[in-house]
Amino acid sequence: MPSASLTLDPHFTVGTVQRRLFGSFVEHLGRCVYDGIYEPGHPTADTEGFRADVIELVRELGVSAIRYPGGNFVSGFRWEDAVGPHGDRPARLDLAWHSTETNEVGLDEFAGWLDKVGSELMYAVNLGTRGVLEALDVLEYANIRSGTKLSDQRIKNGRVEPYRVKMWCLGNEMDGPWQLGHRNAEDYGKLASQTAKAMRQLDEGLELVVCGSSNANMPTFGSWEHTVLLHTYDDVDFISCHVYYEERDGDAASFLATATNMDHFIESVVATADTVRAQLNRTKRINISFDEWNVWYQQRFHAEEQITDIEQWPVAPRLLEDSYSVIDAVVVGNLLISLLKHADRVTSASLAQLVNVIAPIMTEPGGAAWRQTTFFPFAITSRLAVGEALDVKLTTGTYDTAVYGAVPLVDAVATHDAGTGRTAIFLVNRSLDAATTVSVDVSHLGPVSLLETHTLADDDIYATNTLADQDRVRVAPNESAAVADGTLTIELPAVSWTAVSLG
Ligand code: AHR
Repeated sequence: MPSASLTLDPHFTVGTVQRRLFGSFVEHLGRCVYDGIYEPGHPTADTEGFRADVIELVRELGVSAIRYPGGNFVSGFRWEDAVGPHGDRPARLDLAWHSTETNEVGLDEFAGWLDKVGSELMYAVNLGTRGVLEALDVLEYANIRSGTKLSDQRIKNGRVEPYRVKMWCLGNEMDGPWQLGHRNAEDYGKLASQTAKAMRQLDEGLELVVCGSSNANMPTFGSWEHTVLLHTYDDVDFISCHVYYEERDGDAASFLATATNMDHFIESVVATADTVRAQLNRTKRINISFDEWNVWYQQRFHAEEQITDIEQWPVAPRLLEDSYSVIDAVVVGNLLISLLKHADRVTSASLAQLVNVIAPIMTEPGGAAWRQTTFFPFAITSRLAVGEALDVKLTTGTYDTAVYGAVPLVDAVATHDAGTGRTAIFLVNRSLDAATTVSVDVSHLGPVSLLETHTLADDDIYATNTLADQDRVRVAPNESAAVADGTLTIELPAVSWTAVSLG
């Protein structure tokens, strides 16, 4: 049986794990909002029309900040359509997803829902078809106490206290030719800088995210970040990263190594941001908001989902409803490990998305809500990863992949919370056929014992949870784990994700 080892020392820290690392994303896309979080006719719906069963699952998932309302959707969105009396709200065509937007849910309803799930709002402004003025308008509506046209309008609409939204995204994927109002880096950089400066004139304490590349394979990747940051370095706090992965051509070995690509992506964007820092002779650092990441089978999003007849763009069609398997969940768990390994610079992240649309939570109209496989690594990591991320000294064998070459068989990260004395370790075994024994030197932690172990694995790595079989895939305690003489030993099944809590 292959083996691996790691050494934990609470002094070897990478950075503090920010709660915002466990954020998510709700876009007006498909059934994420309508028939997802919001379904007034559902048996569990509350007086505002939100599904209580979904609220429960979102709480259990442990989601911190939620990015809203898009995504590609935001680049055609007029925020003011979706506030005020419902009877006055216009229906609009959503050009991004070829759907009809009813505007039944808008900023006020969504912020109310966030209070119920206990998450923070991260709001994206439209810099595709709109600009500085509209960004200022929605900021005034959301954050000014009273005494101005838009703050008084919010009060009239039923919300007296300002929302005090801290984190704002300056558009979405503006490098992508598919984006409404797509611009080159020069033009976007100037617009983002003007918008950021104006927004700060209204509210100095905002945290602003400028758009990075839509993914690291964009032809402008690297030069986009460089140019945009030359324009905006003093105006923003974060640059965004987006990435979606999928298993291609049955190559599970490469798919399991996906997190090595995320590591490289993060390190490249950090290098670019720090290059601009040196070039401009600044001391401040720009951090990463990894505000879209997930597994997404984009190759499967094709003809049957492409809505063409403009006379019949539907309301809340079933779009991007990927069903996630065990191997997908192992990859998602590994992507979380990658984010934690870079906790010094990735200080905010959003799993895209939250409900029904490439989501950890699925719902059936009038029926059940259930956990996809990817729900488990996210919920457990969000709950256990507290304190400082640790630089674990990992020794492991490698295996060959067609896409990434030789990659480590095991990947791992740990966190340590000095307040409670608890340590969490997160591990994946990427082997397709062999269990791996891992020894962890925990002697530097002082006397510790096992508090919890969770392993996600299955004989069928393509097993999924479905409406018909909602609990087919679960996590189970890892009975092989034991601590003795300052060493934790644990067996990781082939294609598995594991979390261990010590205290
Ligand atoms: O999350 C789905 C889509 O992926 C988002 O709308 C867009 O920003 C990205 O390309």
